[in-house]
Amino acid sequence: MTRGPKLDQTLRLALEGYAWLPNLRRRIGDNVVRTTLFGGPAVGLCGPEAARFVYDERHVRRHGALPKPVLSTLFGKGAVHTLDGEAHRVRKAMFTGLMTPDGTEAGAGVAAGVARLGEHVGEAWDAAVPGWRGRGGLTVFADVPAVITAAVCRWAGVPLAGEEVGPMATALMALVDGFATAGPRHWRARRARGRIEARFADLIDSVRDGRLAAPAGSAVRTVAEHRDADGRPLDRAVAAVELLNVVRPTVAVTWFVMFAGHTLHRWPEHRAMLAGGDGERATAFAQEVRRFYPFAPFVGGRAARDLTFRNEPIPSGAMVLLDVYGQNHDPSLWHDPYAFRPDRFVGRPIGEFDLIPQGGGDPRAGHRCPGEAITLATLTALAGRLARLDHRVPEQDLRIPLHRIPARVTSGFRLSLR
Ligand code: HEM
Repeated sequence: MTRGPKLDQTLRLALEGYAWLPNLRRRIGDNVVRTTLFGGPAVGLCGPEAARFVYDERHVRRHGALPKPVLSTLFGKGAVHTLDGEAHRVRKAMFTGLMTPDGTEAGAGVAAGVARLGEHVGEAWDAAVPGWRGRGGLTVFADVPAVITAAVCRWAGVPLAGEEVGPMATALMALVDGFATAGPRHWRARRARGRIEARFADLIDSVRDGRLAAPAGSAVRTVAEHRDADGRPLDRAVAAVELLNVVRPTVAVTWFVMFAGHTLHRWPEHRAMLAGGDGERATAFAQEVRRFYPFAPFVGGRAARDLTFRNEPIPSGAMVLLDVYGQNHDPSLWHDPYAFRPDRFVGRPIGEFDLIPQGGGDPRAGHRCPGEAITLATLTALAGRLARLDHRVPEQDLRIPLHRIPARVTSGFRLSLR
């Protein structure tokens, strides 16, 4: 029987953040750890075999599994994250259907297509640069959200006037920044969610009653017209939640752009390649940013019934956590895991359950993130532009404390522009 501390770990999680589960596993010398979290039994697992186990929906259910504070900030009530089985598959297809490479599959004149979003993001960055130059520089964590917000809203069919972009970007960032804390960041996130959901629900109404002509294939129109497994359109509040589940995580790519800047400063040897826009190597760089830096600490749900993993019993209803940060730094999977080496992704096929910063398995069948193509397109577009920007990194606090979830460069990563 696997060991692990019986004492409730909620406080230790708050203190240790990303290091909590890896520390526990290291202490007992196993990839399976049994403990107590949020007052109930929990099992922490790590490794591709564990990922395959967790992403088998016969094992782990999501309904009723996610803590309320996470739903009221990050995901929203009734979100796809909380569905199982057929209801999940039908709702999930709404998201994966938006991820066509260039939108052409969806018909003529469509707004969708990941490549189009990459172009919008690049244009929004180029438009912002003169303003940044005018004030002598930018802070990635504070200034890039507006770039991505303008681009993703345009792509998704969300009308946004110029002066609305900044406040919307701030609100979207607050949703992500406040999901794992009980402090002021949490309350800021809840207030922001209330405001954006109300606005997006009105938007859905106006598409449905024809006041707004949203382009075919756009996220707004897709969500407005979607029918769930029961054949009914989404309730307006749930439609707002799901539209937000496209826009919000796209703006969250800001975290990876900030980390890309951090990399280019610490290991400037990658700059020339990125600036040159080498497709395969730029993608490998983005994959390594997603592997190397902390974002999602773990994913999981509740045991759907009494289970056994590697001869270890897991009781029905126990929380099952897959250690994402730990697996992305597992030396048996990644040689020298704390070295930043994009080359490890060049010419290497990536197993469905190996690289899991955004979950594992098949996104159409399970809960893996449907937005990886968007993440890579946005990150490569902006990391390339960052590498080409003639900038200096002034003295600042570049530490990334692992106890803070989500982790960030303390300074937000400031750049001076000449
Ligand atoms: C799910 C991470 C970008 C939409 C997830 C999950 C993670 C994740 C860890 C949970 C997987 C699980 O529960 O097993 C990230 C990160 C991103 C990102 C780190 C980049 C900053 C995106 C983008 C979209 C998106 C751009 C836009 C469509 C979603 C949705 C789900 C999800 C809808 C729920 C999937 C489901 O439950 O079936 N993401 N994501 N994410 N992500 Fe992302």
